[in-house]
Amino acid sequence: MFSARLLTHRTVASRRIEKWFSPADNPSHMIIPGAETQAFAAALAEAADESLGRVEYEQFADGEGVVRVPEAVAGERAVVVASTVDSDAHVQLLQLQDAVREAGASEVVTVLPYMGYARQDAAFREGEPVSSRAMARAISTGTDRVVTVNPHEPAVCDFFTVPATNVDAAGVLAEPLPADLAEPLFLSPDEGAIGLAETVRDAYGAGETDHFVKDRDYDSGEVAISPSDAAVAGRDVVLVDDIIATGSTMSESIAVLNEREAARVYVTCIHPMLASNALTKLSTAGVEAVYGTDTVERAASAVSAAPVVAAEL
Ligand code: R5P
Repeated sequence: MFSARLLTHRTVASRRIEKWFSPADNPSHMIIPGAETQAFAAALAEAADESLGRVEYEQFADGEGVVRVPEAVAGERAVVVASTVDSDAHVQLLQLQDAVREAGASEVVTVLPYMGYARQDAAFREGEPVSSRAMARAISTGTDRVVTVNPHEPAVCDFFTVPATNVDAAGVLAEPLPADLAEPLFLSPDEGAIGLAETVRDAYGAGETDHFVKDRDYDSGEVAISPSDAAVAGRDVVLVDDIIATGSTMSESIAVLNEREAARVYVTCIHPMLASNALTKLSTAGVEAVYGTDTVERAASAVSAAPVVAAEL
């Protein structure tokens, strides 16, 4: 039942890509996708009524990659769209920025639907880097402007050395939720995400909000959830967070809600990273459905954050 509820986002995305590989309607801008962000880029081209550039990605035998961008970008504004979901995607983003400059783009805008390393926004222990700052500095060297979508801490935008803005896509997470939620409670697993829960509740148009308290052991990564005294028995609960990575935060939260006899539990997030066995953890914990945006392209990417970014462009 659980898997049947996950939308076939890739199919939708492929249809969009076919459509937008047609000749440019608006030759003054071009969307340049990273390999891991093709569906989002196609959705952005559609939402912004801009053209989508056909990029070639190749990998050499030694593991290094290379990209090729359309010559038509010369003299135009290039919008490089790349979620930095892993180290290769980071390198590819830097290559794309350099390639569009080399091809003669007049301006480079970088869209980071998902900004990797954003959770490492401080040197938590002696000897550690501020990784998000290091990444932001590197990205800034190849662009005139940056747009991020719900980075874990919006303050990471200050690390860029070019103008950077953050857009909030949480409102779109209400779209895939069923219309018949019973006395819905929009709940964040920690206080830091309560604003997201409030935004989703407002977009849904009904329900209450609350938050749990979360403690994570830095060494083991284990998560302990302390429930609030919110009454959940018999109610439908929508858990809301910025990112699901290992799934520990959400599966522990679901366990607490099950103990307290909540009715259906839905899990929503902006960035459905869903690393390793996260989806299985959520499924075995008893989730009704998992809904995320397409900032990270997964089977759970039920709704697009691209229109929110298009409005910012
Ligand atoms: C941290 O505070 C974030 O908001 C998320 O709650 C966290 O990153 C989720 O990670 P995981 O899925 O590994 O528990």
